[in-house]
Amino acid sequence: MNISKVCILGGAGFVGSTLVSKLARIGIHTRIISRHPERHRKLLVLPNVEIVEADINDFNRLSYYLHDVDAVINLVGILNDNSLDGAGFRKAHIELPKLLVQACQKNKVKRLLQMSVLNADAGTSPSHYLRSKSEGENHLHIFSDKGIQITTFRPSIIFGPGDNFFNRFSRLIKVTPLICPVPRAQARFAPVYVGDVADSMIEHLFKSDSNGLRVDLCGPHSYSMMELMQYTAALSGVKRKFIALPDRLSLAMAHMSDFANSIPIVTPTMNWLIPGFEEARFSVDNFRSLLVDSVCNQSAPQKTSIEDIVPHYIQAKPNHSRFDSLRQTIRRD
Ligand SMILES: NC(=O)c1ccc[n+]([C@@H]2O[C@H](COP(=O)([O-])OP(=O)(O)OC[C@H]3O[C@@H](n4cnc5c(N)ncnc54)[C@H](OP(=O)(O)O)[C@@H]3O)[C@@H](O)[C@H]2O)c1
Repeated sequence: MNISKVCILGGAGFVGSTLVSKLARIGIHTRIISRHPERHRKLLVLPNVEIVEADINDFNRLSYYLHDVDAVINLVGILNDNSLDGAGFRKAHIELPKLLVQACQKNKVKRLLQMSVLNADAGTSPSHYLRSKSEGENHLHIFSDKGIQITTFRPSIIFGPGDNFFNRFSRLIKVTPLICPVPRAQARFAPVYVGDVADSMIEHLFKSDSNGLRVDLCGPHSYSMMELMQYTAALSGVKRKFIALPDRLSLAMAHMSDFANSIPIVTPTMNWLIPGFEEARFSVDNFRSLLVDSVCNQSAPQKTSIEDIVPHYIQAKPNHSRFDSLRQTIRRD
């Protein structure tokens, strides 16, 4: 299939930025649809990149931006949903893919890549996050027999500069006192490098036999949550005693976090007053997602390990976390 122009939903995020820069390097034109194009202007230094502002839940707007592209990549995903009943997860992970596939049909776009998550299962997953990701993925795959080539990517946690895992935990560890409680300390992950994720997506984008594939993506090693926290603390140059929190306590903490976040005024106030409050957000749905290990069963692991990359961006340095959160607020992160 000849692909020269691609539209990417969520293309200005963590994974999207790496993917877009790799696509630019091989001469592919990318159109990123974003809610806040002005925040992502730095991507415009790349050749053949355009960023347009649109509400992707508006079918006509979404469809308009697909009229001249050869492929679509959907990277939209959320980890937290203030609605608590999963409505936000369903909108982002199920309703949006449904709209997107209709827009592809209308515009005769014949290639669609979807970002899902490892071990998501619509029937058995315990969290809204995992179930909705799987449902969205399953819906799209119906169309792989109806003229659209669909490939889904199912990564474990993704790391790299700007990630929301090591960076977040490094900030959190630095502001917690000597003892740091770890919920679901035994949960396992096989972190995969963002560059390897983008390479795999690009490889499959151009492959003629990728239709219907669901590609699991894991790094070369697996670690428990406790091991990853200890590793992050060591790199961050802080000494903390980590204690595994029993599930019942973790869940109580998660309920309190959900309650605090359900009151609109509380979150910004607490973010301002308590350094690390945002980073400590841990919802009941997050807890349930952690009941499923995020490790691969069979597929060949991607090559880059956390030890190759993470020490380059998580280092012992002065604690500017209060300023970091301010910078995030005014979007200068
Ligand atoms: N990072 C990981 O460890 C990881 C692991 C497994 C799977 N994934 C999946 O990989 C994908 C990309 O992850 P990422 O880490 O790059 O996420 P990210 O940095 O948060 O980027 C996702 C982008 O999606 C858009 N978006 C988010 N919520 C939206 C909403 N409600 N409506 C419309 N647009 C929305 C945002 O774009 P704008 O703000 O520009 O509109 C955002 O930049 C997601 O589907 C995620 O679930 C990530």
